[in-house]
Amino acid sequence: MTFPNASLFPETASVNAAGRLEIGGCDTADLAVEFGTPLYLFDEDTLRGMCREFVGEFTRRYDNTRVAYAAKAFLNPAIAIVIKDEDLALDVVSGGELAVAAAVDFPPDRVYFHGNNKTPDELRMALDFGIGRVVVDGFSELQLLDSLAREKGVVQDVMLRLSPGVDPHTHAHTTTGTLDSKFGIPIETGDAARAVHDAVRAPNLKLIGLHFHLGSPIFELEPYSIAIDTVLTFAAELVRDGLELEEFSPGGGFAIGYVTEQPPPPIADYAEVITSMLKRRCDDLGLARPRLVVEPGRSIVGRAGVALYTVGAIKDIPGVRKYVSLDGGMGDNIRPALYGAEYEAVLANRTSDGPKETVTLAGKFCESGDFLIRDIALPSLASGDLVAMPSSGAYAPAMASNYNLNPRPAMVMVKDGTARLIRRRESYKDMMLSDIF
Ligand code: LLP
Repeated sequence: MTFPNASLFPETASVNAAGRLEIGGCDTADLAVEFGTPLYLFDEDTLRGMCREFVGEFTRRYDNTRVAYAAKAFLNPAIAIVIKDEDLALDVVSGGELAVAAAVDFPPDRVYFHGNNKTPDELRMALDFGIGRVVVDGFSELQLLDSLAREKGVVQDVMLRLSPGVDPHTHAHTTTGTLDSKFGIPIETGDAARAVHDAVRAPNLKLIGLHFHLGSPIFELEPYSIAIDTVLTFAAELVRDGLELEEFSPGGGFAIGYVTEQPPPPIADYAEVITSMLKRRCDDLGLARPRLVVEPGRSIVGRAGVALYTVGAIKDIPGVRKYVSLDGGMGDNIRPALYGAEYEAVLANRTSDGPKETVTLAGKFCESGDFLIRDIALPSLASGDLVAMPSSGAYAPAMASNYNLNPRPAMVMVKDGTARLIRRRESYKDMMLSDIF
């Protein structure tokens, strides 16, 4: 049996004969008993399916494409192993993400290092790892990396992250490619041209390409084509200054469905717009077609992840609001509080044909802004019921905290009826491990 918002859930989601939500062939009520809640489930088939869809849709249109998973959406060793196994590349933004890549022997030449303020220690770590590319974000990093590479006696491949000045119409907190941004080197001010000039002449750096990232999530296709046009036009002017465009990246930012009324464009549409613009403009401008690098994060891991919570306290304020509190909240998913992000949810442990009522799903953290969903129509919930929230794989566990010293949730990977623990629930002792008494 299927259910109305199934498109938001992993592709293996269904309702079984007992009327309970099943994912990856595992009954969610059984998982809650075995592993406790809050619990994050990752459906391996959906995760691998998304990797293959990206590679398939892009390489079908533009053979020389590399898909780099943006680790910031969520990375731990188990996820990194799947990404490596699917032959994707990896985009990391910190020494911590790099350490996970190293821990699973991710091929260094397929790792890209991003970030607007990489520390000297992180850059040294990347050089020691033999990282494929450092995506340089500004002048100070150009100088720093050149001198660190010189100390090490290597020549490091780099890309420059440019700011094309294109608004992708998403949340201000996650808009990155506009002029007023801490990310990227602006084209508009002339800085990007100066950075290309400096990078080409840096003795221990080899400039191999250009990168930009507009923001996330981007539901429109047009910002990609405008920005690709802008950056390629810029690149064509810089060829005489020694720029060789071997690689070109329009970043990530591909949307996923969080609520049924706002479906994302299919991956094929993003692939079509990006590859056709790239081909057309390169040909018009007389540029050799570079390798294309796309960096999906949310769209690889978002739909694969489902959060499972248990209903606890219920507070009804007649005529005002009914608060149904769950055993998680802003500690494992701060997105509603931070961005006003919207989600849907279902009652996972029993199908109910009864009337629906509008409730607010709140968390257990000591803050009034701690809610997961405001005003959602659900069957009447009782303490002990299980609530499943889809589209939770990206940026929710990645941004989790120990606020109020609540342990971060356990995680399981489900496939073909088997659930494999990929992160155990944190213990109180874990949370004190770095503390000194
Ligand atoms: N490449 C670069 C350089 C990025 O900065 C990002 C995301 C990505 C790729 C991947 O974007 P994606 O495909 O995942 O949309 N915490 C926010 C999202 C921040 C995104 C930061 N950069 C959220 O929860 O919505």
